[in-house]
Amino acid sequence: MKRILTLAATSLFALSVVAPAFAQNSGAAIYKSKCQMCHEADGSGMAAMHVPSFKSPQLKSESTASLVNDVMKGKGMMPAFGSKLSASQVKEVVAYIHTLQK
Ligand code: HEC
Repeated sequence: MKRILTLAATSLFALSVVAPAFAQNSGAAIYKSKCQMCHEADGSGMAAMHVPSFKSPQLKSESTASLVNDVMKGKGMMPAFGSKLSASQVKEVVAYIHTLQK
């Protein structure tokens, strides 16, 4: 019985540590799996594929709403993500992109 209690306490602890960390990082996780192949890990883009750097003055000055809209609908060579990601997932990943712009 003591063992089971210890086990239960341990898994509860593990869950409480992992769950918030996942929520916090989901923008980063989406970026890694769906965006990084074109935009690079640091957001510097790929000139050869016409992928602009997120640090360009033009993209730095664009509003969050406009960036979210472009990701949902697609732009130029970028596919639309509106059918693959929810609006709140796109907002999270754009929030992550803002951290790369600093
Ligand atoms: C197949 C390559 C590719 C993938 C995958 C991709 N992008 Fe892009 N992205 C581009 C290209 C190319 C542009 C430039 C579009 C243009 O201005 O013509 C772009 C532009 C952007 C812009 C700037 C839009 C603007 O306002 O000019 C944002 C923000 C962006 N991408 C976010 C994302 C996010 C978030 C993901 C993942 C969910 C993603 N991209 C996945 C290729 C890609």
